[in-house]
Amino acid sequence: MKPVLEIENLRVGFPDGTAAVRGVSLRVGRGETHCLVGESGCGKSVTALAAMNLLPRGATRSADVMRFHDEDLTRLSERQTSRLRGARMAMIFQEPMTSLNPAYTIGSQMTEVFQRHRHATRAQGMDRAAELLERVGITAPGMRLAQYPHQLSGGLRQRTMIAMALMCDPELLIADEPTTALDVTVQAQILRLLQTLQRELGLAVLLITHDLGIVARMAQRVSVMYAGQVVESGSAADLFGAPTHPYTRGLLACIPIPGKTPRDQPLGSIPGSVPKTGAEFAGCAFRDRCTYATADCAGTIPHRTVATDHRTLCTMVPA
Ligand SMILES: Nc1ncnc2c1ncn2[C@@H]1O[C@H](COP(=O)(O)OP(=O)(O)OP(=O)(O)O)[C@@H](O)[C@H]1O
Ligand SMILES: [Mg+2]
Repeated sequence: MKPVLEIENLRVGFPDGTAAVRGVSLRVGRGETHCLVGESGCGKSVTALAAMNLLPRGATRSADVMRFHDEDLTRLSERQTSRLRGARMAMIFQEPMTSLNPAYTIGSQMTEVFQRHRHATRAQGMDRAAELLERVGITAPGMRLAQYPHQLSGGLRQRTMIAMALMCDPELLIADEPTTALDVTVQAQILRLLQTLQRELGLAVLLITHDLGIVARMAQRVSVMYAGQVVESGSAADLFGAPTHPYTRGLLACIPIPGKTPRDQPLGSIPGSVPKTGAEFAGCAFRDRCTYATADCAGTIPHRTVATDHRTLCTMVPA
């Protein structure tokens, strides 16, 4: 089946010389959750912003393929992408205040998107907004619609943003750490909602997270990013069951196992730190932290196929 979102060899650079994304490829299918994981600064948000054509001014973007259904995202004008954005492809940002305007009420912001894309009336927009606020677990939605973003707690703002992203029944939802700021009960509720929508509407979700518990629960496919590259990708079963890249293995070893992992063990304890993403560089970016590194790791490393749809960027897997 044709993917909803397809990206091949995406590169993003910033004017200061940072090569934030270095050849990322990924696909998200209908009704599928594809999780993008990796340590802070590895390029997850920049990848998402590039797909939505929302990179900051001055950033450069190139890709061999960047397609949403049959739309070639590399060729669309700003006007054409803004017509897709919010309607057929929606994004939930890591920082809720990025997409909420402090000067307008929740209701008017939510209905604005709906009115613009659906040519609906304000009353229809308000009805739809109230219905979605309820679905994301916000009680007394009528009252919330009349409030301004600053009157809402962080958790409510995050849920409002999720509701807003869903106003026009998007086919693709890119969710950047959508539940990080929320307590576990609300987090579970939001994740359940995403799963329901996926089932009911066939929604394709690109879910960015650094929480492997969420990945285990939500993902059908996983891409593990490190220093601007996808170092391993495959089905959730392959990645959790037979990880090949030492970075993936390191990440998985960091998942606490109840009863086995000592309580005082720090999380995310792969020794060393992510190299500062500077200009392009050759070789494996993880080699300084890798216990298996050899001289080969300083050379160019092509993607290797471990199994169908399971690829890795490591010299330990035969080319
Ligand atoms: N506007 C910008 N100008 C210059 N560099 C930037 C800009 N935005 C991001 N970067 C750099 O690009 C790299 C990737 O950043 P990105 O925000 O995608 O990381 P991330 O994986 O989303 O991290 P986190 O988990 O902390 O959200 C980082 O090195 C970051 O410093
Ligand atoms: Mg980010």
